[in-house]
Amino acid sequence: MSEENTIETMQHEGRTFDPPKGVQQNAYVASMADYEALYARADQDPEGFWAERSRELLHWDKPFTKVLEADMTTPCIKWFGDGKLNVSANCLDRHLTDGRRNKAAIIWQGEPEDDVKVFTYQMLYTEVCRCANLLRKLGVGRGDRVALYLPMIPELAIAMLACTRIGATHSIVFAGFSAVSLQNRIDDCQAKVLLTADAVLRGGRAIPLKGNVDEALKTCPSVEQCVVVKRAGIDIRMVEGRDIWWHEAMAAEDISGECPYEKMDAEDPLFILYTSGSTGKPKGVVHTTGGYLTYAAHTTQWVFDVKDDDVYMCTADVGWITGHSYIVYGPLALGATSIMFEGVPSFPKPDRFWKIVEKFKVNIFYTAPTAIRALMREGTDWPKKHDLTSLRILGSVGEPINPEAWMWYYENVGGKRTPIVDTWWQTETGGIMISALPGATPLKPGSATRPLPGVAAAIVRADGSDAGPDEGGHLVVKKPWPGMLRGVFGDPERYRKTYFDRFPGMYEAGDGARVDKDGYFWIMGRLDDVINVSGHRLGTAEIESALVAHPSVAEAAVVGMPHHIKGQGIYAYVTLKSGIEESDGLRKELVGHVRKEIGPIATPEVIQFTDGLPKTRSGKIMRRILRKIAEGQIEDFGDTSTLADPTVITSLVEGKKDLL
Ligand code: PRX
Repeated sequence: MSEENTIETMQHEGRTFDPPKGVQQNAYVASMADYEALYARADQDPEGFWAERSRELLHWDKPFTKVLEADMTTPCIKWFGDGKLNVSANCLDRHLTDGRRNKAAIIWQGEPEDDVKVFTYQMLYTEVCRCANLLRKLGVGRGDRVALYLPMIPELAIAMLACTRIGATHSIVFAGFSAVSLQNRIDDCQAKVLLTADAVLRGGRAIPLKGNVDEALKTCPSVEQCVVVKRAGIDIRMVEGRDIWWHEAMAAEDISGECPYEKMDAEDPLFILYTSGSTGKPKGVVHTTGGYLTYAAHTTQWVFDVKDDDVYMCTADVGWITGHSYIVYGPLALGATSIMFEGVPSFPKPDRFWKIVEKFKVNIFYTAPTAIRALMREGTDWPKKHDLTSLRILGSVGEPINPEAWMWYYENVGGKRTPIVDTWWQTETGGIMISALPGATPLKPGSATRPLPGVAAAIVRADGSDAGPDEGGHLVVKKPWPGMLRGVFGDPERYRKTYFDRFPGMYEAGDGARVDKDGYFWIMGRLDDVINVSGHRLGTAEIESALVAHPSVAEAAVVGMPHHIKGQGIYAYVTLKSGIEESDGLRKELVGHVRKEIGPIATPEVIQFTDGLPKTRSGKIMRRILRKIAEGQIEDFGDTSTLADPTVITSLVEGKKDLL
């Protein structure tokens, strides 16, 4: 992989960047000695460490006396088991009396420049209470699931917090997903109510959303009511008896701005978020209340070193875990000011982010390598046009950041003054696991650096033994941490098998990595059949099943290919049914079909028609070969002796040449 090679080069070059004095001075963790001491403390006494952090960061209605009950093999994990708390009370109510009542909780920047809304903690509290009362009126109670299929508008954060207030479990479906994806997710979690909008504003266009909902709900009998936010004002169909307008329902006489909250058990589910795996349908990752919130607040505070007068901005969509933990729950639990941004980095011009940074004097900015790479191509004039001196800390998430992008970000956005925290984590981990601490850790571009205190990350060999320095292996976590997933919704066996089966007593992340002599982690990417497209996980199996659902397709195999902006792109090998002609028209149709089945993020970059796929005699597709061809490495395929028909390779290579 070429990316690995550049990372290797950087590592050998040995460039490191020490924390700037200004950042170090007031940081929560202000030196490597402090980090080492905290790591050792958390390692020796994890329960003491996490109990202390949780008590310091959260308000517990009933303080916990038990810290951890864990069995990593069954697995059964309980954090703060006998405590009671409420997430919305932690994110809102307590800030009404701690001096933050009139502080901005969320600054919302809509896609049109002058579309800005500021919610103080008091204002957000009132809106959340109203929405919680509305949900109760619609019959939603503790333990019910609520699906949210919304653009990046304040109503999304309000609805999330409203669910937590009444003890309902939200499941957010990214608004870029298709009707089919929405339907699968609603069907899996059996949501009772769905909140959506007429359309998404993106890149200057109103992209209809409600039509997808109508399509999906045809086969989702669990959904009794659908609440629709008017975002773009486009014409939509409202179904009598099922659909109601948000603005009308929220303005009703009987909807009060006060709503008593449910005291939840620490292990009550908080949300379900679907993510792709190597097999089958996406899995519903379940996070629970006390542990998740402790972890989100803890990592936000230490990794981004958030101070009370900071303006903090994370550019993720709330439809992904990053938005859950680092736009909504982490920052609001801390009483911070969080910017929520609707739109894309390049519209109307490629200085959208920098304009916002300048306008709101953003101090902490967290984005993804794919965005950096896309903006890098537009040149340095765009960041130069803006005063970015308010920035103190930069962050990166979603995939390894290639050193070239790291340096561009460091020099042109951070002005060589700001550390970059490259944060490794996953939907399943709930929050950041491996990352620099900005006031402590010397940085090496391309490395996520060291595990946070309390995170027992390690690299093991296939037999489970510890790998040596610089030896590539499987990334695992050897001890429970509060933010870890507690299940796969409705499928305990898949939960066990996916994460706890291969290496007994450990959590298996599914990533390959190695640790250098300084204890720095270098993430090499997924080891399973998951592709990371623009920092988003897609299972090859999902894309393959979308392709074979098309009437012209007999068989399909999907692999990742290097992509200069997206990190990885989708390369699909397709065998057509007999009698069907290969054509560019059909290729386009198949691309459209996958977009319709999954969503535009799953758009294949390349579709190569082929008469056959490289299979072993037992019928297993040799993806290794397909990956090599997709990457353009057609010289050496290694051992191909187990192939049933070795001539397939020649025709695949010829087919690839024809494509170019
Ligand atoms: O392969 C790793 C990659 O993204 C995967 C997790 O994807 P997801 O659950 O969608 O969450 C993304 C946001 C947390 C991981 O298994 N990944 C994430 N962050 C990094 C990364 N790879 C390298 N470096 C990172 N900083």
